Amino acid sequence: MSKTVQVIFTPSGKRGAVAAGTTVLAAARALGVDLDSVCGGRGICSKCQISPAFGSFAKHGLTSSPDALSMRNAVEDRYDNLRGLAPGRRLGCQAQILGDVVLDVPPESQLHRQVIRKSATERVMVMDPATRLYYLEVTEPDMHAPSGDFERLAEALESQWKISGLRADLEVLRELQPVLRKGGWKVTAAVNSDGTGPARLIGLWPGYREAPLLGLAIDLGSTTIAGHLVALDDGRVLASSGLMNPQIRFGEDLMSRVSYAMMNPGGDVEMTAAVRAALGALAETLATEAGLPATDIVEAVIVGNPVMHHLLLGIDPVELGQAPFALASSEAQNLAASALGLTTIAPAARAYILPLIAGHVGADCAAVALSEAPEARDELSLIVDVGTNAEILLGNSSRVLACSSPTGPAFEGAQISAGQRAAPGAIERVEIDPATRKPRFKVVGCDLWSDDPGFAEATAGTGVTGICGSGIIEAVAEMRMAGLLDASGLIGSAEQTGTARSEPTGRTHSYLVYDGRASGGPRICVTQGDIRAIQLAKSALYAGARLLMDEMGVDRVDRVVLAGAFGAHISPKHALVLGMVPDAPLAQITSAGNAAGTGARMALCSLAARRAIEEQVRRITKVETAIEPRFQEHFVAANAIPHATAPYPELAKIVTLPNPSFNSAASDPNRRRRR
Ligand code: FES
Repeated sequence: MSKTVQVIFTPSGKRGAVAAGTTVLAAARALGVDLDSVCGGRGICSKCQISPAFGSFAKHGLTSSPDALSMRNAVEDRYDNLRGLAPGRRLGCQAQILGDVVLDVPPESQLHRQVIRKSATERVMVMDPATRLYYLEVTEPDMHAPSGDFERLAEALESQWKISGLRADLEVLRELQPVLRKGGWKVTAAVNSDGTGPARLIGLWPGYREAPLLGLAIDLGSTTIAGHLVALDDGRVLASSGLMNPQIRFGEDLMSRVSYAMMNPGGDVEMTAAVRAALGALAETLATEAGLPATDIVEAVIVGNPVMHHLLLGIDPVELGQAPFALASSEAQNLAASALGLTTIAPAARAYILPLIAGHVGADCAAVALSEAPEARDELSLIVDVGTNAEILLGNSSRVLACSSPTGPAFEGAQISAGQRAAPGAIERVEIDPATRKPRFKVVGCDLWSDDPGFAEATAGTGVTGICGSGIIEAVAEMRMAGLLDASGLIGSAEQTGTARSEPTGRTHSYLVYDGRASGGPRICVTQGDIRAIQLAKSALYAGARLLMDEMGVDRVDRVVLAGAFGAHISPKHALVLGMVPDAPLAQITSAGNAAGTGARMALCSLAARRAIEEQVRRITKVETAIEPRFQEHFVAANAIPHATAPYPELAKIVTLPNPSFNSAASDPNRRRRR
């Protein structure tokens, strides 16, 4: 009987007895240890590297001596000469275990390596992509046993990697024969196997392919399209880029695009073509930025709101424009990327689209739910993805609810008199001195405040051009804090507020933030109309959140997460003063950045994440704001700043709001006299 020896793998702690002479790779497989291999133990890929640890390990109850592994063999020497093997490293498929030993599997040798996501929550993501590389040695054709090259390749995959039933699209079949011959019947295959259909051959390269496969994670928004190019071996982001959604020319917001489709026969087809072309261009831009061929992109994961989702898939969104807002399908979609017109990437690439939550709550919200995972906490989280349509999640480990609320484009700087998108020159931060009622501000692209020395020089190139979403939110909240604005949202007159910056504009007043006329610039004011637009948007957001709280039977939440590219720029204090979100401790109001993009990236890197969100979406309770009478009540009460009836005790701890009233004629003796 052959001698058995003890082997312990760290960091997993998995241990067991194996016959002396077993390779480390075989021992790892036998003991269920996560050790990578692309070449199947042929000493080519070096993915199986381990580091033996020698010495006496009291904790493990064994002593590991340097002769516990076989001597370095010719394959390892050749690899070391060609590519270099770090000191102390061995190829697991070559080193044989001869005595008791402790072996460390470094992170880069783990097939399901963990990636720490840099976010407030520092969550760990496990790499588990649908498409992986497999090195194969394929039997050569034989006239006496005729069979196709593809069939022999499929047999090799089955016998060498235990993956059966391989299928190939015509695009890959066309490439198959020359690649097999060029590689001398040794090839690396990219195989997609997501557990929902047959394994698919996505690409084939002669010999061993070293470079990782690439994936695209796309957040398809109504205004902007954001994309990340991701390495599918370790999840790192190789390039990120964004572009404007070209559908804007058919309508600024979702409903105007749905009406474009309704009013113009073939309008949906035009919009589909426009967005598909943009995605193809984005893929090429990202690949160029990373210096890699776009044809190495073998998978794309796309998230978007229901209208964007339907238009991308070429489904007329007309049903989404009218009650009962029926989706064509809410299921996750798993399809050929070419079916979405994504032709600039690998011809046989696959696409995965996250499931939709409801007629107004899209795959982007599902991606936020995946990234933020409210169900993983006991505290009650309110997550708002602030955009033209706010998507709102409320939940904890017992239950998660979702709705959307039509906030309109005011938060993005649209419908605001001096509003503009967040571009260099746009005012993004505002402070108003409560004593002098003088403002100071910062613009996008410059770190200085407007009253800092050097501000004029630093902004000479861009100028001060307008006010963006985060800027208008801060301006309105600061006006309220400085007593320029009363709780009902009225701007006081110069007499009432004691500042000449309150200027009469028709029957109402405006507050002057910046006068750039001396240098040929604009005059930037916050008008009464701007305040009204922000009040409408914030009331809709609050009412949606409050409706979910009613459904949950609570009056307060433990934490608030502001998601979305825009959410990242909102100051929590100002959001609270404005009453955009329900009261919560300031420290518990945080930003998650582009959580939808993060969720898309997670689904790209992990099949388990796809299964998790598909399950979770079925469990999420959908609340339809459009038909809920209480929505209107909440909306009206939320019109006041911060709110007509809801107490804001946490806000009161950090800010004491003045309480002027600019509505009654009695408070303005001059106006009374005029009347
Ligand atoms: S498994 Fe490929 S080199 Fe060891």
